[in-house]
Amino acid sequence: MNEQPQPVACVAGSEIVSQERFGTVAGKSLRVAVVYYSHEGNSRHLAREIARVTEADLIEITPRAGDTSSAVSRYVWGGKQIEVEEYPELVPIEKDLSVYDLYFFGSPVWNRSLAPPLASFLSSHEFFRKQFAVFCTYAGRIGNYFEHARQKLLGGDVLGTIGFKDPLADEGGDAAAQVRRWALHMVGKARG
Ligand SMILES: Cc1cc2nc3c(=O)[nH]c(=O)nc-3n(C[C@H](O)[C@H](O)[C@H](O)COP(=O)(O)O)c2cc1C
Repeated sequence: MNEQPQPVACVAGSEIVSQERFGTVAGKSLRVAVVYYSHEGNSRHLAREIARVTEADLIEITPRAGDTSSAVSRYVWGGKQIEVEEYPELVPIEKDLSVYDLYFFGSPVWNRSLAPPLASFLSSHEFFRKQFAVFCTYAGRIGNYFEHARQKLLGGDVLGTIGFKDPLADEGGDAAAQVRRWALHMVGKARG
């Protein structure tokens, strides 16, 4: 099944770290992308670890600055106020996202679901017959994060999911090692 990956339109994001090499990962010839949103660095930390160990292109999703006019609600967290829109407008990605065999997607859990910038990204792309692995970071409750991710990735193949609680506070560095192991396991499950 899933022999014919379909093109993915390029819509959103900003920072792209391109390895410009699609080499052999864990004995497989795979093109891998890590697409993530992070507000405070936890998800970025894991995204970088995954990209490093899988030799992936690292693509950061960034909401358009100052675009708060259509915010539907505010969520107060730790004394900060953050606009929580279901589908915020994103900075365009200047990259062809259709070329990859395996996509890692990740973000923080917000309101027990996908952080809105990742929800926006996933809702604006076609993922029919693609392969995915989904990760998140959270502080207490993952809620429906992975269920909502799967709903947005219908027609694709979700190879696995994983969540990490406060990975930046993980002084032993175990989260980094765990996410690297998990990423390689996902590569092992993927077809090239
Ligand atoms: C607006 C907002 C909503 C959040 N909602 C949740 C939540 O529902 N459940 C939870 O466990 N953590 C929640 N958190 C905490 C983040 O998921 C957690 O701190 C995460 O590791 C932050 O990732 P980041 O550093 O990549 O932004 C929320 C944080 C913010 C800012």
